[in-house]
This record gives sequence, C-alpha cells and structure tokens, in this order.
Amino acid sequence: MWLASFRSLLCKCFIPRWLGLCRLIKTTLIPLERRMLLAMLLNLVLASFVFLSFIRDGSAGITSSFIRSEWPAVDIPLDHEAFAVPKGYNAPQQVHITQGDYDGKAVIISWVTTEEPGHSHIQYGTSENKFQTSEEGTVTNYTFHKYKSGYIHHCLIEGLEYETKYYYRIGSGDSSREFWFKTPPKVDPDSPYKFGIIGDLGQTFNSLSTLEHYIQSGAQTVLFVGDLSYADRYQYNDVGLRWDTWGRFVERSTAYHPWLWSAGNHEIDYMPYMGEVVPFKNYLYRYTTPYLASNSSSPLWYAVRRASAHIIVLSSYSPFVKYTPQYMWLKEELKRVEREKTPWLIVLMHVPLYNSNGAHYMEGESMRSVFESWFIEYKVDVIFAGHVHAYERSAVTGIHYLTNQHLFT
Ligand SMILES: *[C@@H]1O[C@H](CO)[C@@H](O)[C@H](O)[C@H]1NC(C)=O
Ligand SMILES: *[C@@H]1O[C@H](CO)[C@@H](O)[C@H](O)[C@H]1NC(C)=O
Repeated sequence: MWLASFRSLLCKCFIPRWLGLCRLIKTTLIPLERRMLLAMLLNLVLASFVFLSFIRDGSAGITSSFIRSEWPAVDIPLDHEAFAVPKGYNAPQQVHITQGDYDGKAVIISWVTTEEPGHSHIQYGTSENKFQTSEEGTVTNYTFHKYKSGYIHHCLIEGLEYETKYYYRIGSGDSSREFWFKTPPKVDPDSPYKFGIIGDLGQTFNSLSTLEHYIQSGAQTVLFVGDLSYADRYQYNDVGLRWDTWGRFVERSTAYHPWLWSAGNHEIDYMPYMGEVVPFKNYLYRYTTPYLASNSSSPLWYAVRRASAHIIVLSSYSPFVKYTPQYMWLKEELKRVEREKTPWLIVLMHVPLYNSNGAHYMEGESMRSVFESWFIEYKVDVIFAGHVHAYERSAVTGIHYLTNQHLFT
C-alpha cells in the first residue's frame, strides 16, 4: 500500500510546477477531479488506474493496487540465471550507466571484462547497428583481500543531444554487446520526467521482484538511495564475488537506464580482519558519479540537474560537520540551485533525518543538526532516504521526507 501512495506522490512531483499543482504533494487528501487531471497529464493508463483504485479502496492515500509479493529474503544462489555471465571470450559484463555531467548531455558507461583488460572503447550512434561515433575510456582493477577484481572500464560520452535515443556497443568481435539509453529532456521547468526510487536493494528474490517492477514502471532514471549489493554479508573472496553478481543482476536495467548512485553503510566494506580498511573501496572502483561536474571533491557527494529537477546526493558516512569538504561543497551547491529552471529540489541520502522506526532510530540526528536549517532555507521539496527497510512519509517545516526500502516510481 505504501508503495502505491508513493507512486502517486512522485507522479505529481514531476509535473511542471507552473501548473500550480505541485503543492498537492503537501496533502494526502486531494479532490478527485484534481487527482484525475494530474494523472491524465502523465498518461491515460495511469489515470484510469488511479481512478479505479481510488474508488475501490475509498482512500485518498491509495492509488495503486500493486502489492509486492514477499519472497524469501535469501540471497539468490550463485548459479542462478539472474547472475548469468554473458557468453563469449572476455565479454563485457556488469554494464551500467549514470549521468555524466551537470545537465544531462553526457553519460558515463561502465563495465567489467574478466579474462583480460581488452579495450575501453565505445561505439555509439542514434540509429541501431550504425555506430558513427566512438569514445575511449579508462580501465582499472583492484584487489580486496585475495580477491582480484575484473578489469573495470569507465567511459564518458559527452555532447549528446537532449531527448534522444542512443545505441552503443562495447567489447570486441563476437563478444561485443549492444545496448541503448535515452537522454533526458533539457533542463527546464516544463520538462516532465519520471524517476524511480530504489534503496537497500541487495540480491535476494525480493530484490529481483523489485527490479522487475521498476523495469515495468515506465520510469526513466533510478534515484538510488544507498546499499547496493550487501556483499559485506560475506567474507574473504566472496565479498568481491557478490559485488560481481550484483553488477550482473542489475544490468538488465542499469545498462539502459541511468542510476544515480548514493552510498550507504553496506558500501563501506570496512573489514580489518581481512586487512581491508579503506572505506568504500569496492563501491568506488565500480560505481562512478559525475561529481567533478558539480565541483565536488568526492564521488560520494555531488549534484546533477535532470529535466525539471535539481538532485543533490549526500553521503551519510562521510564527514559533514562544519568545515568538512562535504559541508563546504553543499553550502556552495545550494547557491547554484536555479528554481526558475529546476523547480524541484530533491535531496538523496541513505540515513533518514526523520524516522520513527525502531531500526536505526535517530541515526540521522547528527546530519539533521548540521543540514536541516539549510534545507528549510533553500526550500528543499523532498528528501529521499533508505536504510530503515520500512516505508515512512513525513512533512516537517515544509520538507517532505520519504524513507523506503525497495521501489517507488
Ligand atoms: C591489474 O591487472 C594486471 C594485469 O592482469 C595485474 O598485473 C595487476 O596485478 C592487477 N592489479 C591489481 C591491483 O590487482
Ligand atoms: C565549477 O567550477 C568551475 C571553475 O570555477 C566553473 O567554471 C563551473 O561553472 C563550476 N561548475 C558549476 C556546476 O558550478
């Protein structure tokens, strides 16, 4: 049920603000006519869906009949097809893309090869099977205890056109693989866009159901609120191996849709008993962010603009008190927000600032005490967090807080 109410909330969020309808997110009791109008603006199918569930449930807070099935919360076994290795010698795997610049005209494409480094070359173009342009990326590898990573490639493609579908090819010869992505509309208050929110995903059978639900949702980009693979539930070699399985698991979406990453506690991988004490090592080698574009000094906190939204990503597990780099950066980034271009100001973080659940109670207090006054001053619309594995929605001093576990679109 909570999933459903969130769906309606975000749908409303990304309607251009000039319609004067954005305030609707402040209330859960919305007149039926306005609700219908909103939904129709998005698409007719959704509209009837909203209408029907509204009537049937007789509650303004429920807008979808979807209830996620509970599968066993056990990790998918290594030999399951969800983790299948693509065929062919040195075939690219764990393909994922993310926004590559501040405004959505660039994409970073990442993948892993296992037998040898191969090349970091991408061919791309706007029509299928025709790759007029190419770009060269970089390759890196690392160890985690005795685990040796594959060869991790990252390639930035810049100067793309807005609202365009691009096809791309990576790898060599028979082992090459092809995917596509779509660039967002230009940064503009009238650019509609549909985001999905996922956090604390992991690699259980529930994770698979969440991922499939996102793929069917019609959303265009994932705002990921931390805790990717849960590989830190394992020890020694298996930590790296479970980062690899997760990369293959999410590829069905991440190769096509950008996921905007933020880090959670399961990315820290602080494992002194096996000699691994550098925080975020697995995560940072594998998942890049366009942090330089927002003049951040760390991939763990950054900002992008996409369609009508300005999205600020924070790191709950990096220093944020006064004078730290994250604090200094956020102070400047908030000044860059141009509400006339991006009426929606969204903040992502892993640990919620408000949470009434027993799990992780008050863990966000330290960040709240430092940043909340800025969020109020700059009129942040909504803050998305994960961590708690329970849905909760609150509104405090004009800011909407949403804590989630799996998926909302
Ligand atoms: C990276 O790969 C090269 C080539 O296989 C290997 O020689 C090197 O030891 C690897 N580096 C790390 C840090 O594992
Ligand atoms: C980052 O800094 C550079 C150099 O000062 C500046 O040109 C650029 O506009 C800044 N980027 C953003 C997003 O403000």
